[in-house]
Amino acid sequence: MSITYDSTCRAFALHAGNCSYVLQVSGSGHLLTCHWGASVADADLSFVAPVRMKTNALADEPTPAFGLDTALQEAPAGNGDFRLPAYRVELANGAQDLDLRYVRHDIATGKPSLRSLPATYVEDAAEADTLTIVLRDALSGLEIQQRYTAFRNFPVIARSVSVVNAGSVPVALLGVASASVDLILPPQHVLSLDGAWGRERERHRTPVRHGVTLIQSRRGESSHHHNPFLAVCDAAADEAFGEVRGLSLVYSGNHQMAVEYDAFEVVRLQAGILPEGFRWLLEPGERFDTPECVLVYSSTGWGGLSRAYHELYRTRLVRGPWRDRLRPVLINNWEGTYFDFTSERLLAMAREAKELGVELFVLDDGWFGARASDNAALGDWVVNEQKLPGGLARLAEEINRLGMTFGLWFEPEMVSPNSDLYRAHPDWCLHVPGRPRQLLRNQLVLDITRPEVRAHVMDQIISVLRSAPIGYVKWDMNRLLDAYFSPALPAARQAEVMHRYVLAMYAMHQQVLDAFPDLLLEGCSGGGARFDPGMLFYAPQIWTSDDSDAIARLEIQAGTNLVYPLSAMSAHVSVVPNHQLGRTTPLATRFAVAGTGSFGLELDPTGFSSEERAAVAAGIAEHKRLQPIFHHGDLYRLRDDEKCVAWQVVLRDRSRAVLTCVGRLAQTNQRPGPIRLAGLDPSARYAVRELFGDERSTVASGLTLMSAGLWPVPDFQWTTADFLAKRWLLERQ
Ligand code: GLA
Repeated sequence: MSITYDSTCRAFALHAGNCSYVLQVSGSGHLLTCHWGASVADADLSFVAPVRMKTNALADEPTPAFGLDTALQEAPAGNGDFRLPAYRVELANGAQDLDLRYVRHDIATGKPSLRSLPATYVEDAAEADTLTIVLRDALSGLEIQQRYTAFRNFPVIARSVSVVNAGSVPVALLGVASASVDLILPPQHVLSLDGAWGRERERHRTPVRHGVTLIQSRRGESSHHHNPFLAVCDAAADEAFGEVRGLSLVYSGNHQMAVEYDAFEVVRLQAGILPEGFRWLLEPGERFDTPECVLVYSSTGWGGLSRAYHELYRTRLVRGPWRDRLRPVLINNWEGTYFDFTSERLLAMAREAKELGVELFVLDDGWFGARASDNAALGDWVVNEQKLPGGLARLAEEINRLGMTFGLWFEPEMVSPNSDLYRAHPDWCLHVPGRPRQLLRNQLVLDITRPEVRAHVMDQIISVLRSAPIGYVKWDMNRLLDAYFSPALPAARQAEVMHRYVLAMYAMHQQVLDAFPDLLLEGCSGGGARFDPGMLFYAPQIWTSDDSDAIARLEIQAGTNLVYPLSAMSAHVSVVPNHQLGRTTPLATRFAVAGTGSFGLELDPTGFSSEERAAVAAGIAEHKRLQPIFHHGDLYRLRDDEKCVAWQVVLRDRSRAVLTCVGRLAQTNQRPGPIRLAGLDPSARYAVRELFGDERSTVASGLTLMSAGLWPVPDFQWTTADFLAKRWLLERQ
């Protein structure tokens, strides 16, 4: 068992990988955090007591040293704790606090799945144990079930909560965090992943300040602006050293990630559905389940944190046949043609792509209804036979005959006002009756919380997928949700719309996977606005950003792979000058950056010169050789400064590794210095071969490569041009 209970001190110890999490039930029945960090011994459990400071705040026990406002709590709900609550309700009498006391607990092997929500899982019950602690508010009869799963082989505690109305009258939930934890730590920094369209998940790190820091999405999706992730780290922590603690919410809607730092230097970390604008009516006997929050502890800096999230998410969040399979090299026609295509043009692109080594042809937006631009036809999922005579079946079969899989773009959650669907059902979108409907990218959001709307869309999509051999779907979502209103729900339930929308969206994804279990789903949302763990449960890969410029992608991908595995990040080689930035970068650099993710081309290859054709074919062949390392390997971000970025990926058995270096703006008269490698077998000797060049190779020990480092010279001169890239393949001899 990785979870033990000591009844003398009423403490629980959860051991996960090299980390421990210790909880205690106080004499008064409150649930307290004692420890979340490096391992502690079970035998010492009675020593790992909660910190109790003298205070004038409300004292709840005979001992004056204990007050709820200063206690390290696991289930704060007001009632004498004046910090950020994990739970806020509206009882029948109007009271908003809860007085939560321990009732019972249960320790079981394995990990239960969550009802209607994505979550990490185990394949064998021996992989994890789960502790459930039940707390109760005697006045209302409300029961809070807090679940903690300790994964044996990962430094991961997965938390979720169910709220059961065991009382006799309805209760409104105003806020239910998935996890709340109080810690006393040395001075901390907080890091979040924030951005906007085209520059998603930039890393922002600042000292934790007194008061509350909130990272929220209010946009109805996890959003370009704030990823559902937050971490705190020691002030000096870097890629390889220092303690880091991360919270990652397995959810794709409005979220709130919070850090509160109080007068007693207690850090409260919290994650859950955004409480603002949320009110869920719970009838007697009903249960509400929160999304899961995945807590990772690393004592080896950001690198350790990333590798733990990567392995967990790659192997125990992503599901289905594509979890472990290498992803096909694809070509997507979007930047190659936008809306301007015919079957002939697509087939010409496909024939050329096949020659280059591409395995999957993806037809993006514009194949359906009267969609000639982005101002019509979303919702009309019927093939446009003028553009594609013979329909999708003919095109897909021709592409199959070339030896490639055919893939298709959909945007199932949306409707264009200029569409047959909208003309027939103008009330099927989210809107506030009597108010003008606001368009964004000329479109409205379907009210998929209504079963009849969902059924109509799903029938259309499933019949398209049955009509042709389609092996891949790109599921897009190109606008945020502003009207949080479903005319089908009563007034008292309008604040449930945002969460109901997310549940409905998940159910639609599951329906597609149930009907087509082998389908490879790729998530997308105006680039990477829904790149979150919730979507990864359905879509093993997600379009990282609409910005395909290799240099912009250095930061976007480094922020993304702080949490998400390389195999999840879709990354494509596009043309230069780049369509988003106008920047010109060498082809080798575009390959080096896109090649670290789920790789593809996003261009029209029919105009390639013979040199370009040869270079692209060679790049794809090399990608296929390196792909197993990127898919299954461990990532080390070795360097990221004004001169260059260096990423190394090493197979877990340490037999092979790839080092990728990308120079930034060239500087005269400087030398880049050696790059110290990581994660190698110190006692093994490695052949080090430079790719994209004369493929010269040398031999050195893992020890030396990690201590003295690899000199990217003599021919790796940043001074010759901007944005040069180099790659080395290391193979154990
Ligand atoms: C979004 C996606 C793009 C493309 C377009 C099509 O912007 O991110 O990749 O699919 O929609 O309209």
